[in-house]
Amino acid sequence: IPVEIFPTSTEGSHYAAGEIAKLIRQKQEENKPCVLGLATGSTPISMYKELVRMHKEEGLSFKNVITFNLDEYFPITKTAFQSYWSFMHRHLFDHIDIKPENIHIPNGDLSKEEAKKHCIEYEQMIDDAGGIDLQVLGIGNNGHIGFNEPGSSIFSKTHITNLDNSTRVANAREFQNISKVPRLALTMGISTIMKAKRVLLMAWGFKAPIIAKAMEGNVTEQVPASILQQHNNCTFILDEQAASELA
Ligand code: F6R
Repeated sequence: IPVEIFPTSTEGSHYAAGEIAKLIRQKQEENKPCVLGLATGSTPISMYKELVRMHKEEGLSFKNVITFNLDEYFPITKTAFQSYWSFMHRHLFDHIDIKPENIHIPNGDLSKEEAKKHCIEYEQMIDDAGGIDLQVLGIGNNGHIGFNEPGSSIFSKTHITNLDNSTRVANAREFQNISKVPRLALTMGISTIMKAKRVLLMAWGFKAPIIAKAMEGNVTEQVPASILQQHNNCTFILDEQAASELA
């Protein structure tokens, strides 16, 4: 897997934002929509900050951008502070000129039956938009991408999934306590992610052990990110600490 290593996560984040901005502008020149797959969590926050800065200071427009977020807790209301709907509006959408109808985030505020239908529709909406041009990913300490936990099928599409206990513990910081972290989530599947034309996975700091496994270990469903070794246009963007256990 090609890798770009930066001294700090800030520099890595600026690089990622720059790659996204280049693609948005290129698509604008071609008069085409730019379809972005987006992630939440602590990893992409500085990248979103830089994109907002580029919008405000450099005139980067998001008018031709269509977004699909990777995942959402289930169940959760959109307006809950912890929802990924809230996260995305707080860190990006409220500060740029994207058309509200071009924003797609899995809806965690449905019954389980409705959610199953919604997952099928979500996958279809991605296809109808022409597929994802560039997918942004973080990585869990257990190797998850989106909320595809170890053992997820490489053929999976958008679906309802159980969160691993380790994921709930890692994300408990966003909630009052672990018991408040939802046990389920809606997530794009591994095959949804693999269909993206280009993938940028970012990881900072203490993720070094799982980065080494994902990039240099066997391709296995036990380390979902390892399947990215088989993607033909995927780059890992790391800070020096996250790259420190690479051979
Ligand atoms: C978030 C997502 C997750 C996170 C991962 C890392 O939309 O899909 O896979 O990227 O859990 O989270 P952070 O960045 O908080 O370490």
